Parts: sequence; C-alpha cells; structure tokens
Amino acid sequence: MDSDTSNLIQFKDHFEIINDEMFKVFNSRVPLVEEIGRHALLGHGKRLRPLIFVLSCELCSYQQEDVYQLSTIFEYIHTASLLHDDVLDNAEIRRNRPSANQVWGNHAAVLEGDFLVSKALAIAIRAGNIPFLAKITETTTQMTEGQILELAHTDDWEISKDLYLEIVTAKTAMLISTACACGAIISDAGSETADALTRFGLDAGIAFQLIDDLLDYTSSEEVFGKPVGKDLREGKVTLPFIYTLEQLAITEKNRLEDLFLKHQPTDDDYKDIIDLVRRNGALDRIRDEAQSYVDKAINSLDIFPDSTTKRDLAILSQHIIDRKK
Ligand code: FPP
Ligand code: MG
Repeated sequence: MDSDTSNLIQFKDHFEIINDEMFKVFNSRVPLVEEIGRHALLGHGKRLRPLIFVLSCELCSYQQEDVYQLSTIFEYIHTASLLHDDVLDNAEIRRNRPSANQVWGNHAAVLEGDFLVSKALAIAIRAGNIPFLAKITETTTQMTEGQILELAHTDDWEISKDLYLEIVTAKTAMLISTACACGAIISDAGSETADALTRFGLDAGIAFQLIDDLLDYTSSEEVFGKPVGKDLREGKVTLPFIYTLEQLAITEKNRLEDLFLKHQPTDDDYKDIIDLVRRNGALDRIRDEAQSYVDKAINSLDIFPDSTTKRDLAILSQHIIDRKK
C-alpha cells in the first residue's frame, strides 16, 4: 500500500481474501484466457466494489461463508467493463501497466471481457437467488446503456450537466450501488434496508466518477495509473470542461470549438485548455459537489444503528473522493 491507499490498511485482511477468492474461481481450459485475465485483474486494482459488497453484507448480518466468493462478481464485472472501455478509448495504460488491448489487441480484450462477465454471472447463479441475479443483470444492461449514451455524445460541446450525470450514474455509480444493494438482497434484509444501501452506493458512485473526471485534469500518469488529459482527446466532455465552457464568452467558446473539432489541435492546444480548466475554479466546485454526494451517501446509512461496519462504509466513501488515483 502507498500513502494514497494507506487509509485502507484496515481493510487489508478483506483485500487478501478477496484476491485469493478472485483467483480461486478464475480458471479456463484456454491458457490465453487465464493469461489475459491475470493481467487485467492484477495491477493496482483497488477492489473497492468487492469490499463495499462485503461490508454491506456485514451491515446486514449476512453469515454465509460464500460472501467473499460472491464479492468477486463485482470485480469481474468492473474489470470486464474496463477491458471493453479501453478498447473504446484506445487506451494504452490501465492500472499502471499496458492495457490488455495494447498487449493482445482489441479482439482478445473484448472477448476476455465477455469471459469475465459470464464468469461473474455463473458465480451469481450459484447463489440461487433470483432478485440478486436480476439486480446484477439490470446493472450490466444500464452500464452498457450509459456507455452508449456517452459514445453518442462524443465531441458534444453542448452536453448538459444533467446528461453528464445520467451517463455517470449509469456507467459507474450503478455497479457500486448494486454491490451495496446486493448485500441487502442476499441477506434478505427487506426493502427499506436495500433502498438505503442502494442510495448510499449511488451517491458514493457518482462522487467516485466526479473525482475520476477531475483527476483526468489534475493528476499525473505516474500517480493516476493511466494517462491524464485523455478525456478531451477522446472527445469526452466531462464536468470540469462543462463548467469551464459555461464561463467562457461565446466568441471564445466558438473559437475553441472550431479549433478542436474542425482542425488538428496540437499538444500545446490541449495543454492550454487543461490550464484553462485548472485556472477557472471548476475543480474546486466539483470537489465540493463530490463531498456533498459523499455526505448524502453517509446520511443514507442513518437507518442503521452505529457500528464499526457502518463507520467503515463511511471511511470508504470518504476515501473515494480523497484518493489521488
Ligand atoms: C470507465 O470510465 C468505464 C466504465 C466506468 C464503464 C464501462 C462500461 C462498459 C464498457 C459497458 C458495460 C460493459 C460490461 C462488460 C458490463 P472512464 O472511461 O470514464 O474511466 P477511465 O478513465 O478509467 O477509462
Ligand atoms: Mg475510459
């Protein structure tokens, strides 16, 4: 663990069991499937989604020993979505190492993602709980819709904050929320509990993506584990840029739009625009908003009596926005 993740040291035992379980159930008769899978699942993955599921189960007093095995579902789906996303984004680096599409090509990366999703569903089916399974498949559907919505708005300089939030909710927050909700569902904890955990995960998940998009403008590749300033190069108009555009005079906005969409912007043009975003207060505004989402998430847990697990979930959601990577 480094300084950024040192506040997660208290979850070390959970992480070790999650990692063991992930590789216990990960097998294929095709060696290349295992090779790509090990590459994609290893690296500096944070395992936040499995951990948040384990803690949600704990909060609902789930006592069965399959909790860690079930938790791997959320890392498999997450990793599958990153494999696919890296193909869409032409990414070269993921989790501080070359992305799978870079090493094995787009075809293999997409197929490995498919393999991980079907592995995840096979594990979910073993739980023998239809609402649990339904929640998971509803989520992979929404993630895909979110990603396609994002694709449909590539290079859209008119994208609204509402639409941005709709994309973020579907592509990122839903899986985090579902990891929480599934803890309640598998525990048979009732709808009030499931709703509270759903809301907790949704708000924490939105905060997560707000910070992810902010770090794309503020971090460095070494710290973040993936290149920075990449969103705009890929035509992704995220909240830092939406807020910056709001503040520009229309003539300046039109000049930049013309330069970026119709001509070949240079590295210096990208650098100038990143500096513009960094200078205009958008980033502080987003940090404050992310903190409000986390505060709201923590308030959703009010229905639970005070406990170590409840405090752990609050620590985890705060980490989501204090992280540097
Ligand atoms: C990373 O976002 C990508 C996601 C959060 C979701 C990707 C979802 C899909 C590809 C569709 C669903 C797929 C499956 C297998 C269920 P980002 O591009 O903003 O972050 P990055 O900077 O880390 O790439
Ligand atoms: Mg991406």
